[in-house]
Amino acid sequence: MSSPAIINGKEVFELLRDDLAAIEREFGRDTVSNVEAITEIGEYLRAGGGKRIRPALLLLSSRLFNYQGRGAIRLGAVVEIIHTATLVHDDIIDEAQTRRGRPAANTQWGNSKCVLAGDWLYMQAFKIAVQERNFRILDTLIELTQQMVEGELLQMEKLGKLISLDEHFDLIFRKTACLFSVCMRMGAILGEAAPEQEESLAQYGRDLGMAFQIVDDVLDLTASESILGKPVASDLREGKVTMAVIHALERCTSPERKSIETVVREQGFDGVTHSQILAILNRYGSLDAASARAMQYAALARNAICDFPDSEIKRALLWAPDFVVAREK
Ligand code: IPE
Ligand code: IPE
Ligand code: MG
Ligand code: MG
Repeated sequence: MSSPAIINGKEVFELLRDDLAAIEREFGRDTVSNVEAITEIGEYLRAGGGKRIRPALLLLSSRLFNYQGRGAIRLGAVVEIIHTATLVHDDIIDEAQTRRGRPAANTQWGNSKCVLAGDWLYMQAFKIAVQERNFRILDTLIELTQQMVEGELLQMEKLGKLISLDEHFDLIFRKTACLFSVCMRMGAILGEAAPEQEESLAQYGRDLGMAFQIVDDVLDLTASESILGKPVASDLREGKVTMAVIHALERCTSPERKSIETVVREQGFDGVTHSQILAILNRYGSLDAASARAMQYAALARNAICDFPDSEIKRALLWAPDFVVAREK
């Protein structure tokens, strides 16, 4: 009997449920230290939830090759722990008050403890990864961590400045898409994929990650904090110029440009309001343009895996780009 051509989110979750639960347990075991603050912060972050999209991608990638071992659980925990570490550091850098609908860890334990907890989490992720005894995996993770840190640093250097779209895309590749790509690549490595298959999956992850961050940036401008679970309009307040804003800057009048510059320079909506900025973005179709670009990346992701034979797992991978562009949080 031929299986249905499409799969929905519930079915994807069903497919991965047991492994995601195992990753959750692994994460819980891995973030225990005899220094209480680390265990507490680790547990607080894990219990805060999150979409777990990165481990899900790693699982799907490994399952494409029928990989059955424990490595996917361990590396699933590794990528989620790395993601968690970057969020702790990111919230300190961004001075964020909320994350996943709860007070951000930095507001509970203070910056100093959270910096150290983030460092500890990075190292713990590597400690688990070493268990694979695979230098390519370690190489990939080291390169990734450096890219992510470089991404955050570059972003910091560009705060308050009006950057080009190319600079912006380079930045979001480093800070977000690179990890998505690595999740897919590590699944392929575990599954002993042929080099060209590994590259296709890494490309899929990269395109999906680009779509993901573009959508994150649009949601930052348009969503409400109650749905998003983290502060909104925070990028402009932090002096970060994202795709929709760059699109508008390339088209708007000089008074409109001044308004945007004011927010980015003052890093706040004192002189110019959030709704004034949204009005400018809507006038030039800039939010739609950003969403359209996210959809293009989503289509590129789907296209990157077109040579794989049809399977339930492939269908789940074809579903993920739709999920990423349609999500509300
Ligand atoms: C947030 O990632 C950081 C970005 C790369 C935009 P997620 O949106 O995956 O965060 P959680 O894990 O679901 O909270
Ligand atoms: C996230 O970028 C990048 C990371 C790798 C943590 P953002 O700063 O947009 O993430 P959020 O919106 O705070 O989750
Ligand atoms: Mg942030
Ligand atoms: Mg954001």
